[in-house]
Amino acid sequence: MLSQCENDAMSLLSHLDHAPRDPILGLTEAFNADDRADKVNLGVGVYQTEEGVVPLLDCVATVDQRIIAAAKPYGYLPIDGLKAYDRAVADLVLGDSVERDRVAVVQSLGGTGALKVAADFLQLVGPEATVLISDPSWENHRAIFTRAGFTVETYPYFDAATNGVDIEGMLSALLSAEAGTIVVLHACCHNPTGYDLTPDQWDRVLAVVAERGLVPLLDMAYQGFGHGLAADGAAVGKFARAGITCLISTSFSKTFSLYGERVGALTVVCADAEEAATALSQLKIVVRTTYSNPPTHGATVVATVLDDPELRQQWEGELAGMRERIQRMRVRLREGLKAATGVDLAHITTQNGMFSYSGLSKEQMIALRTEHAVYGLDSGRICVAALNERNLPTVIAAIGAVL
Ligand code: LMR
Repeated sequence: MLSQCENDAMSLLSHLDHAPRDPILGLTEAFNADDRADKVNLGVGVYQTEEGVVPLLDCVATVDQRIIAAAKPYGYLPIDGLKAYDRAVADLVLGDSVERDRVAVVQSLGGTGALKVAADFLQLVGPEATVLISDPSWENHRAIFTRAGFTVETYPYFDAATNGVDIEGMLSALLSAEAGTIVVLHACCHNPTGYDLTPDQWDRVLAVVAERGLVPLLDMAYQGFGHGLAADGAAVGKFARAGITCLISTSFSKTFSLYGERVGALTVVCADAEEAATALSQLKIVVRTTYSNPPTHGATVVATVLDDPELRQQWEGELAGMRERIQRMRVRLREGLKAATGVDLAHITTQNGMFSYSGLSKEQMIALRTEHAVYGLDSGRICVAALNERNLPTVIAAIGAVL
């Protein structure tokens, strides 16, 4: 018989290294464990109300109540999800840009789930392709595509010298990319920088993508948080109209405040109806072998709201309310910092969406966390959507102290 000691030495898991904490959700774990009373979490991208809580939108509460009042058994959804939801997503994301028979949609577990399904699907299409993500990008982009088996590289995006987009650097990287390279683009509210391409810049990117035969994957997790549904969705419309194959990952976590419900979708715009049917058949294999089929509740809520004119109008109003509050918080933070420190961080009010790429260094961000209990990402990203009149003074004092 082996001794306990020999058994330990041979343990199946003994060679495993302890994985690093997730750079975003791991920060929430650290925040939750922090017992300082005036702590502020500006790490994860979660919108909070003036009262500092995640909102339950009225349109969502109405549908929740209807669902409870007419309670139904929880059967399985089809592998590709609730049909009404998939249709509503295609309408929201694509508008009238493309005929629906050229489009394959699968409901997914949030935007992250859509990216994972996209990554596994693209592995089937071309396992040798390189994936290009923006520099910088959402931390999970690299991880998702690397784990799916791709080589992940970056294209220039943020230009610290001008505090804006390095469009020439981006275009020249895309121009020298091999045909078939997958390019992950942020459709709006770039995460983490908050700097988006102008309509003209999108046209230039699209022209290079088409000319070089690249594969665009537009990640759209914040439609409506920047300038409104139509303006934020415009880039996706351009790509869909261009007649090239493109993929769009969508999330309703933020825009419906349905974080825990994991409501997302992957939309693939194909060359024709036959190709769309083939793509859908393969997407269903990916889903079936990953989580079988998606959950019912969140998608039912979103589909019901999007399909009902009154609820839809209410949602658009609530979405506008969140967007406008974020913009107010940007102004309040910029003004507060200027008044307290004399430093005008003007970029805070020119960036879009729920994040501000503050320009603070990793050392400053660590000091904010350890000395002032204000949590943001090491990259300098802070979630301005979690600011409110009560925590602003704490945040302003803390940033002022590390500047
Ligand atoms: C973020 O960037 O903070 C959000 O998209 C949440 C997440 O899953 O990382």
